[in-house]
Amino acid sequence: MRPPGIALLVALVGFSPGLAGPLDYSPPPGLPPIPWPVNNPYSPARAELGKILFFDGRLSANDVVSCAFCHDPGHAFAGSGAFSVGVDGKHELRRTPTLINRAWGKSQFWDGRALTLEAQIVGPITNPDEMGMTTEGVARKVSAIKGYGPLFAAAFGDSGVTFDRIAKAIATFERTIVSGNSAYDRYRAGDKSALTKQQKDGLDFFEKKGECAECHSGPDFSNEEFANIGVGTDRPNPDPGREDVTHKRSDTGRFKVPTLRDLASRAPYMHDGSAKTLSDVLQIYAKGGLPNPHLDTRLAPFYLDKETERDLLAFLDSLNGEGWQNIKPPATFPQ
Ligand code: HEC
Ligand code: HEC
Repeated sequence: MRPPGIALLVALVGFSPGLAGPLDYSPPPGLPPIPWPVNNPYSPARAELGKILFFDGRLSANDVVSCAFCHDPGHAFAGSGAFSVGVDGKHELRRTPTLINRAWGKSQFWDGRALTLEAQIVGPITNPDEMGMTTEGVARKVSAIKGYGPLFAAAFGDSGVTFDRIAKAIATFERTIVSGNSAYDRYRAGDKSALTKQQKDGLDFFEKKGECAECHSGPDFSNEEFANIGVGTDRPNPDPGREDVTHKRSDTGRFKVPTLRDLASRAPYMHDGSAKTLSDVLQIYAKGGLPNPHLDTRLAPFYLDKETERDLLAFLDSLNGEGWQNIKPPATFPQ
């Protein structure tokens, strides 16, 4: 048994003004201010509590599967395998996406079925293949851990533990998982020497001939919409993607346009992890996407010579930024 004083100390560290990293809520250059929801305002204590909950395996039925179990902090908070594995080692259908810059996301999940980070959290916690709990069950389990009391008090005013508060704290922490100040951001801010000639050529192809920016646009390189580029449509039972949410035939095989930041830290790619390298991804686009009845009409084949491939890969490399790397797992957990 650790003394409860340690938990209190963890909460107090959250108020230390000089501490960089997850507790610093101003994002790195290149990103807009974080849009904190009115009903869940930022506080260092709330972000710190959220971080501890995010890493705490006791939020799951088998005491092992924390959020970080799948969203690996060393892998830009994405999964490192094609499919994620939860309690009982069961397999999921989709790859675990990165959590960087989700603060600006208009919807969550590959099919956009949750609108906010707060609403998203009920998904993994109650999914029998992921953390396998109920919302009441997880609140009861956390409130039985005495060391959490002071942390909830610091974050919410009193030590009461509810699922709503758990979700709010974790969502606050998630909004601090950011990536910015990449070479590309510095280039956009006016430092013309931030990109090499090869990277500038890649950017030019990305925006013009490749038409990548039709979908990968904005500060996070996603228009936050859904598109069908054909990935996985050649499987026996293809993932319906966005159609599951809207029940529209035209949404078959559409997935959320993912961010292109920090790709180097989070292979494999695509909703099913089927592209192992970025060269594999470029091959898909050079073919104009994978043929299927609902293929996006904005995709067209192009000739990918070695030089263009090198330029594009160099440009994508310029999107590797900083922020999330400063987040370290909690040294101790409340007891
Ligand atoms: C068993 C592995 C697993 C666990 C545990 C898990 N996730 Fe996930 N997470 C996934 C997968 C897989 C997806 C994509 C599912 C989909 O799109 O249908 C996902 C999607 C997300 C997304 C949406 C990201 C986006 O780009 O749309 C967020 C946010 C998220 N998870 C946060 C969490 C939080 C917070 C927890 C802990 C409460 C958690 N996850 C636990 C595997 C996991
Ligand atoms: C019509 C919209 C659209 C266009 C145009 C487009 N993409 Fe994508 N991109 C997507 C979608 C949707 C996905 C996710 C598909 C999936 O997972 O099945 C994706 C995935 C990716 C990924 C993998 C990211 C990850 O996290 O797994 C990379 C890299 C990428 N695109 C680069 C490009 C490049 C380079 C171009 C231009 C040659 C381009 N995209 C053009 C919509 C688009």
